Parts: sequence; C-alpha cells; structure tokens
Amino acid sequence: MSRLIVVSNRVSLPHPDGAQGGLAVALQAALREAGGLWFGWSGREVEKFTGSVSFEEIDGVRSAVVDLEPQDVEEYYNGFANRTLWPLFHYRIDLAKYNRSFGSGYERVNKRFAEPLHVMIEPGDTVWINDYHLIPIASQLREHGVNNRIGFFLHTPWPPTRLLVSLPYHERLVRSMFAYDVIGFQTSEWLESFLHYCQNELGGTVDGEYVTVDGKTLRAAVCPIGIDFKNFLEAAKTPAAQEIAERTRISLRQLSMIVGVDRLDYSKGLEERLNSFETYLNRHTEAHRAVVLVQIAPPSRGEVEQYRNVREKLNEMAGRINGAFAEVDWTPIRYVNRGYSRDELAALYRAAKVGLVTPLRDGMNLVAKEYVAAQDPEDPGVLVLSRFAGAAAQMQEALLVNPYAPEEVADAIHTALTMPLAERKRRHNILLEGVRSEDVHWWRERFVRMIEEAPAHIGQDG
Ligand code: ADP
Ligand code: F6P
Repeated sequence: MSRLIVVSNRVSLPHPDGAQGGLAVALQAALREAGGLWFGWSGREVEKFTGSVSFEEIDGVRSAVVDLEPQDVEEYYNGFANRTLWPLFHYRIDLAKYNRSFGSGYERVNKRFAEPLHVMIEPGDTVWINDYHLIPIASQLREHGVNNRIGFFLHTPWPPTRLLVSLPYHERLVRSMFAYDVIGFQTSEWLESFLHYCQNELGGTVDGEYVTVDGKTLRAAVCPIGIDFKNFLEAAKTPAAQEIAERTRISLRQLSMIVGVDRLDYSKGLEERLNSFETYLNRHTEAHRAVVLVQIAPPSRGEVEQYRNVREKLNEMAGRINGAFAEVDWTPIRYVNRGYSRDELAALYRAAKVGLVTPLRDGMNLVAKEYVAAQDPEDPGVLVLSRFAGAAAQMQEALLVNPYAPEEVADAIHTALTMPLAERKRRHNILLEGVRSEDVHWWRERFVRMIEEAPAHIGQDG
C-alpha cells in the first residue's frame, strides 16, 4: 500500500518550552489524520554521526529520527538554515551570514538524511519534504535511485530575485529543486518571486503552473497552510483551558487585553510592536489603567546571536515602557518568555479583545488563524494583522497594517478596541469561515493530491 512519507528538520517531539513553531504543529495534525511516517532530526546530538534511525510513536504519529553530531548542528541548523537562509528568505540580507562551512555542512547533512531515508522509501510511496532546511534532499534521493513522486513545501517566504542573488551559489541551490515534481508556496507573492528567479537567472520557461529549467519540469503552485480548526476548538474546552481562562479573568478585572504570541524571532517584528504599543499609550491616555498587552514570546534558536540580541532588546524595551507608564495598580505590558499548551493558548486568545500579529515578514502565521478560531462568535475580538504576513492574503477582513509604521499600528489598536459589536461580528464571520474551511486537512489533502497527480518520474512504474 502506498504511504505518505513526510520529511522535515524538526519532528514534533515534545518541546521543553512549548514553542514548536507552525510547521511542527501543522504536520502533526496532518499526519494524525493521514497516517504514514514522519522522518527528520531527533533534535539530539551525538558525538559521532551514525545514521542509525530510532522509531517512535508520538501522539499517534509514527516517526523515524536520526541524531546529528555537534558540527552538523552548528553548520547546518544554526549555520546555513538559521543564519543564512532564514534571514535571507525573510528579506533580511543585513542579518544573513555567508560562510562556506555553513554551505558544506548543509549539503553534508542533507546527504546524511538521504542515506537512511532512501532505504525506507518503497515504490509507490508519496514523499513530501518540508522547508528551507532540506531544499537539496530530493536531488540526493534521486542519486540513490528514488523515482517516487516527491513534493516540496516551503513554509517561509521566497525572497525577491534581487535579494536571493546575494546568496553565493544561489543557482546551485535552486537548480537542485528541479529534482522535485511539485513545489508549494504559501502565497502567490512567493510563487511569483520563484518563477521570476527561474526565468531571469536560470533561463527557465513558465507555462501556467509548470516551470522548466534545463529540460526538467516541475509544477509550482500556491497552497496556503491552515490550522487544525476542530482540534483547536476542542482545546479551548479542556480543564487546563478553563483554569487559565479563570485566572486571566480574575487578573484582568476591568482591563481590556491585547495578545501577542510569537517565537522570539526578529522576523516577528516584536521590537516594532512594542514601539507601536508605546505610541498608542502616548496618544491615548484613556488607555492607561484600562488596557494591557500580554506578549507571550518563548525563546527560539538561542545558539544564534541575532536571536539572543532580540531577546535582550525586548527585555530592555518591556522594562523601559513599563517603567515609564506603570502605576502601582497597573503594568501596561505583561511580557512572558515561556511556552503554553495549546489549550491554554486557546483560552488566552479568547480572553483578548485584540490579537496583535505584526510580523515584518512571515510565510503564513498560524497565530492569526488560531486567534480567529478561538473567539466567541457572539462577542469576537479583532485581529490586527501585518500586511506582510502570508496570512494577510486570505484574511482581508482583519485590520491590515504596516508593522514598520508605529502610528498606523497604534491607530489600528484604537480602532480595534472601539469597534462596534456589529462590525466585529461581520469581520469575524468572514474570517472564521476561511479559517474553518481552509484548515490543515484541506491544505494536506490539496498538496498531497498535487504530488500524486504529478506525471510519474522517469523510471517510475506507477
Ligand atoms: P512560526 O512557524 O514562525 O513559529 P506560526 O505563527 O506560523 O509561526 O506558528 C507558531 C505556532 O507555534 C502556532 O501554532 C502557535 O500556537 C505555536 N506557539 C507560538 N508561541 C507559542 C507559545 N508560547 N506556546 C505554545 N505554542 C506557541
Ligand atoms: O517555518 C517556520 C519554522 O522554521 C519551522 O520550520 C519550524 O518548525 C519553526 O519555524 C520553529 O523553528 P525551529 O524548528 O528552528 O525551532
């Protein structure tokens, strides 16, 4: 029987601080429904790489993981993935580090993953690779003779050609993608940038959704990821959710709560968000002792300097703003550096009158969708959403803002907090319908179908 084999750097092992990120949360939900096997890094380090695979069953999902050695983790994960590609793909070439050892570590680890993986793939299996950590893995699998259909889904943005060409050996990376049959993007903006690159840098041709480079054709399409809507609604009803809802209600008293939930990442625009909130407090004295911003931001990728910098900067900003505005019985920002369970998050979203989701650039942003799903339809809160999040393409009824413009965000916070009930319900209804119908299962089914419908790869009999 043909199986679905999902591959991603991170396999959803329980995470100490709960900050798994959108990819892990979504794939876990997709695999729970579809069955199959999830392959990737265990998140553990061993002195010497062996390639031996451990099989585990996590939350009803069968996974196969390998350990990496410290040099791999440094050059591949902390290096090329998170110091080079992540900033570049989020348009931050000012933060991207180009170091040859990162590039070779990245290729080495992709080869190392391909070794045990190709042995597990059986004829007829559908293979689905995820995210920027693993771009060249399909070309490695092809070298091992894997002829199965292979799809790649990019969870991050794809940068404009002018930025991508700042990456040494960019052609080599993108040419390796033509070992895939299908490539999926979150939005048409990222897809267009990819097509532009293929045409202008690789001399490729585009015919509808089909792109040909050096005689190899793949399908490139838009397929936005969603949340596990039903599961999220259930999460909001558990005892853990009810307990935190009650604690929040008591601690808020009459305060109106604004919520932000993000991994501590410079792409999430957290410094700009605190700046905007300070602007709001300066312009709206009526908000003093009446509004509180609860910002939940668990640390992420702490081995990488820029992440430590953003953490320090936010500590400093939250302290400074609180120092400037707080009174004995009111602190404007509750800044929390820990993760919460999904149940607790659902309750926190529901308690908030405003969901403040203002990344500077984001492939999708699932927090925006979770915030909408968690609202009480009879008295919903308002989503303030960055126009630079992939989610904005599907969520036009949010208050869309430019996260770089503090006054614009401050105005949107004010509009959200004073919006009449009928208008809140109108916007929420439309947003909720989108989040409900285009959920994670819709995404998985569409993308897997695209892979299965691809013409058989050369040598494949099915
Ligand atoms: P990214 O993948 O860049 O982290 P997303 O917004 O797409 O961003 O996904 C983040 C996911 O991680 C969401 O499902 C969110 O609920 C979860 N998450 C974020 N912060 C926390 C936290 N503090 N505790 C638990 N889960 C979190
Ligand atoms: O696409 C967003 C993403 O990079 C995912 O690949 C990942 O699961 C998430 O962010 C969290 O990052 P990390 O796995 O590096 O902690």
